[in-house]
Amino acid sequence: MLENPFRPGFGSWPPAFVGRERDELLFREGLANGPGGRYHRSLVTGPRGVGKTVLLASFRDIAESEGYITIAVDANDGMIRRICRDLRLVEVALADNPTWKISEVRAGASIGVASGHIELTRPAVDGVLDDDPMVVLKPLLERVEAAIVGRGGAGLLLTVDELHAAKTSELERLGNDLQHLQSVVFAGAALPTIDDQIFNSAGATFFSRLARFALEPLSIAESLSALRPPFDEHNIGYNDLELTKTVDQTQGYPYLVQLLGYEIWHRLEPGDAITESLLSAAYEAAHEQSIFDVLQPTWRQLSPSSKRVLGVIAANGPGPMATADVREKLDKSSSWFSVYRSRLINAGMLQAAGRGFVELAGGERAAEWILNQLIDQ
Ligand SMILES: Nc1ncnc2c1ncn2[C@@H]1O[C@H](COP(=O)(O)OP(=O)(O)OP(=O)(O)O)[C@@H](O)[C@H]1O
Ligand SMILES: [Mg+2]
Repeated sequence: MLENPFRPGFGSWPPAFVGRERDELLFREGLANGPGGRYHRSLVTGPRGVGKTVLLASFRDIAESEGYITIAVDANDGMIRRICRDLRLVEVALADNPTWKISEVRAGASIGVASGHIELTRPAVDGVLDDDPMVVLKPLLERVEAAIVGRGGAGLLLTVDELHAAKTSELERLGNDLQHLQSVVFAGAALPTIDDQIFNSAGATFFSRLARFALEPLSIAESLSALRPPFDEHNIGYNDLELTKTVDQTQGYPYLVQLLGYEIWHRLEPGDAITESLLSAAYEAAHEQSIFDVLQPTWRQLSPSSKRVLGVIAANGPGPMATADVREKLDKSSSWFSVYRSRLINAGMLQAAGRGFVELAGGERAAEWILNQLIDQ
């Protein structure tokens, strides 16, 4: 069979990117409306595998086609240093090539920092980061933005993925600096747990004010249009009703949809059509894999008490549950529960659901899976 076109990997670009047209439109409007406009600075949130990383990538594509230079980093330890390093790469590239116009750069051999449009080598910036990144970030942002605009570019877009993993001190630095540099476009992505981190942190006003793209799973129609194109292109037959029924089971989780496509393709021999039994075997495999990838690694590290807390919440079903009811079922004090609540939120298993409520981060699928784990024990 031909190479599998599906891309079930965190952060990998799917064969068909679907269902995020509205988010893309708002992002475009944010660029067009400029500083102070609502979507000029935004935060993409949602559970694991919902498509935050790929949406940020599509934002970068949009911005680059509008003449922006983009910088993309992940937010684990050293985030500020990496942003400074990439800013320096852009600065040096522009200084070394005084005749470059951003539009030519875009059309030409392509200069790219993270997304592949400025080909620069690290040694070119030796020495830059002898300075403390926390101190040089703001002047660097200012200089690079001015240099880009000076060369006919539209401006600078900074994207930061996995913001929930940032160190508080770095998050505060970035927030403070961006607050004072209105023209830099910013888009972050984070698990919904970021909210607790933001509200607990004194200097994080910037992040709590960002326009929000709260990603939901895809609709069934969208999930189908993420799956069908590769099969249609290769004239692989399927029964629409059967395919729809299988896709319905994914509940529109983009990661699971990609896994399903992958598993279907994987089972096809040249000339085959997609049969009902192939579909159910493929779904079975995809479902198991998705649970394994999303929940299992976290679950293994949880204490028995944390698992009990999750068991009570899972037994209540998907959707918010009052913390008072959880405590009553466990017969625990509110101070005991608040420790586990924040631990499980930080682990990405729970999410706050309004004052006095908690909710499983993975919804119905997570509830089923957790209950099965507890039965098996
Ligand atoms: N809109 C979409 N259309 C089609 N496929 C998508 C879409 N969004 C995401 N995917 C696919 O789903 C998978 C997960 O996407 P992504 O890595 O962006 O999720 P994420 O929200 O960043 O997850 P995590 O929180 O674990 O980082 C990838 O295989 C990606 O190709
Ligand atoms: Mg991601």
